[in-house]
Amino acid sequence: MQHNFWLYSVIDRVMLANPQIQSIVEIGTGSGCVTTIFGLWGIHRNIPVVTVDHVNRHHSHVLSRLGVEFLQMDENLPSTQEAILSKIDQKPTWVYCDGGCKSRELKQFAPLLPKNSIISAHDLGTEFRHHIDAIKLCDDGIIKPYHPEWWMEFNIQLAIYMKL
Ligand SMILES: C[S@@+](CC[C@H](N)C(=O)[O-])C[C@H]1O[C@@H](n2cnc3c(N)ncnc32)[C@H](O)[C@@H]1O
Repeated sequence: MQHNFWLYSVIDRVMLANPQIQSIVEIGTGSGCVTTIFGLWGIHRNIPVVTVDHVNRHHSHVLSRLGVEFLQMDENLPSTQEAILSKIDQKPTWVYCDGGCKSRELKQFAPLLPKNSIISAHDLGTEFRHHIDAIKLCDDGIIKPYHPEWWMEFNIQLAIYMKL
């Protein structure tokens, strides 16, 4: 699904409030719009930004100028999980789930992230549902909702969690 400009405001808020974030991983590059915002944060913070998609449909020269690393990989392969975890390198990371299956991405990566990481899933209410896709992880104390009042601001549809 498409996103609207207000999403960038919420991304900025999350980054400003979380100086512990030491890398950003986006699953689902698409045309690279959100990637560009993350790339600017990567420059500002001097932290690595990695984006993963099985299709290359973005402007590679833009993302490479921003220092964003593009991994053309199928997110369903174990080697992709390994590649992502090696980028995270056990440091607090923001994993932005917006690939082929946001709920599966969140369930797969949330338990593997270091404490104080952020994990988010786009398309809340359509492709991702908190009470179905994240409730067990929350009940089990693996993640907790992060500023849920932001999640649907101007219909941005972004569920955000903090790793416990
Ligand atoms: C909603 S788009 C991403 C939009 C982008 N994050 C943005 O906000 O501009 C979803 C992306 O997931 C990618 N995708 C779907 N299945 C995938 C898979 N198995 N492995 C990797 N990427 C996949 C698609 O190619 C598509 O570009």
